[in-house]
Amino acid sequence: MSIAIITGSNGLVGAEATNFFCDKGFDVFGIDNNLRNFFFGRDGSTIWIKKKLKKRNKKYKHFKIDIRNYAGLEKIFKKYNKNISIIIHCAAQPSHDYGKQYPFLDFHVNATGTLNLLELTKKFCPVAPFIFMSTNKVYGDNPNNLKIIEKKKDGN
Ligand SMILES: NC(=O)c1ccc[n+]([C@@H]2O[C@H](COP(=O)([O-])OP(=O)(O)OC[C@H]3O[C@@H](n4cnc5c(N)ncnc54)[C@H](O)[C@@H]3O)[C@@H](O)[C@H]2O)c1
Repeated sequence: MSIAIITGSNGLVGAEATNFFCDKGFDVFGIDNNLRNFFFGRDGSTIWIKKKLKKRNKKYKHFKIDIRNYAGLEKIFKKYNKNISIIIHCAAQPSHDYGKQYPFLDFHVNATGTLNLLELTKKFCPVAPFIFMSTNKVYGDNPNNLKIIEKKKDGN
């Protein structure tokens, strides 16, 4: 069993990562508690994305856990430890304006949540790569300057 843990699996980035790693044959454990619904109201809810992911991917397993909940996360890391091959951390409060308005909530989700995941990775699956999505406020517009030509999959 090769497990990819994807936090924020029902968000914009996490859902794409989920499909990608399911297609690669991983067992994807998605961790998302739909906090987006709390941040942005009903229009921000990701329940429909969860349903779509479950329907598309047989290898997707969902965990409704808050990444601020260390003990809740620990149960998964402790049980599956060395079977965890990779962690892709996409769960976040992603809005800068929201963060300015609610700095403690923003800090707890983005900083404490990340620390919880890093500590559990170190403790239970230290050789697994940890991919952190960070924010485009760090790298700005630079990806648009990369000399990449998008082609069809067959190379035509
Ligand atoms: N979307 C982009 O273009 C983009 C670009 C660069 C970086 N990023 C970064 O990628 C990360 C994800 O961005 P996104 O656009 O997918 O955001 P998103 O809001 O679409 O997804 C985040 C997901 O995390 C979940 N979540 C939030 N708090 C949680 C918690 N405490 N516990 C469990 N789940 C929780 C939400 O319910 C949501 O489904 C962010 O850190 C963002 O800064 C995004």
